[in-house]
Amino acid sequence: MKKNYLCRLEKKSELIPGIFDFTVYAPEISHTASCGQFLHILCSDKVFLRRPISICDVYGDFVRFIFEVKGDGTKELSFKKVGDNIDIMGPLGNSFIEGEYKNPVVIGGGIGIFPLFMLTKKLENPTVFLGFRDKSRIVIQDEFSAIAKTYIATDNGSYGYDGFAADMLKEYLRENDCGIIYSCGPAPMLKAIKTISEQADIPCRVSLEQRMGCGIGACLVCSCETIFTGVNKYKRVCKDGPVFWSSEVIL
Ligand SMILES: Cc1cc2nc3c(=O)[nH]c(=O)nc-3n(C[C@H](O)[C@H](O)[C@H](O)COP(=O)(O)OP(=O)(O)OC[C@H]3O[C@@H](n4cnc5c(N)ncnc54)[C@H](O)[C@@H]3O)c2cc1C
Ligand code: FES
Repeated sequence: MKKNYLCRLEKKSELIPGIFDFTVYAPEISHTASCGQFLHILCSDKVFLRRPISICDVYGDFVRFIFEVKGDGTKELSFKKVGDNIDIMGPLGNSFIEGEYKNPVVIGGGIGIFPLFMLTKKLENPTVFLGFRDKSRIVIQDEFSAIAKTYIATDNGSYGYDGFAADMLKEYLRENDCGIIYSCGPAPMLKAIKTISEQADIPCRVSLEQRMGCGIGACLVCSCETIFTGVNKYKRVCKDGPVFWSSEVIL
């Protein structure tokens, strides 16, 4: 049974309107977390269910996560002040890394870029593609650029590549070797990346951001469809994932 901890909010900033960067003191989580795992957060006593948010980074006794305000839960969370305790369960789920591959590519879009930061730090010589709606929504680009060769795409061409990050990846793969693709982002983006990886015959890991209930495998709210049959037809994103091989899930 996973434990929940009362974690003191140590640092808080609003990176751009509606996107908050939190660091909490959480030694029990920071020392056991691996890249790709997530936290299940009780946003306030006004919001019934916990909300899943990825671990963006860990250092020492601290855990960093970044979230966008979407609805009631994340809005309540954004009201927390430095010094407040936050009830956090975790780390939950599995990891991005399974096996060793050369020339890894990391690709993410929107809130999907946050779990990729800790992964990028762990990889050897990764190339990173990040997609945003427009220039005003770009966050932590400088932090990615400091640890990896990083390319930015915006949907409206206001910064970097004009179009989707997946299209940029497709062009990159025409001229560069890639041993594995790691990805997280909105469903249409993951679908496109899955197709690209299949065409190029490159293994691909996808992290799914499904709606969740319990977060620990008990309620089945987070089920996703797989290529398997029988009892394995549906997998739980919270417990069997959130990271899957793209070849095993139906997107
Ligand atoms: C494993 C995992 C990791 C995640 N990591 C992050 C992260 O690092 N940063 C971050 O900002 N968000 C992350 N999310 C998404 C985050 O959990 C949702 O945005 C949040 O639960 C919305 O809660 P709410 O109460 O604010 O909004 P709600 O009122 O519950 O919903 C508001 C809107 O958000 C949509 N939404 C709700 N849940 C999700 C979801 N799970 N994924 C996508 N859209 C959703 C709804 O369809 C609705 O349109 C993650 C989700 C999962 C499953
Ligand atoms: S959220 Fe309950 S089983 Fe996954």
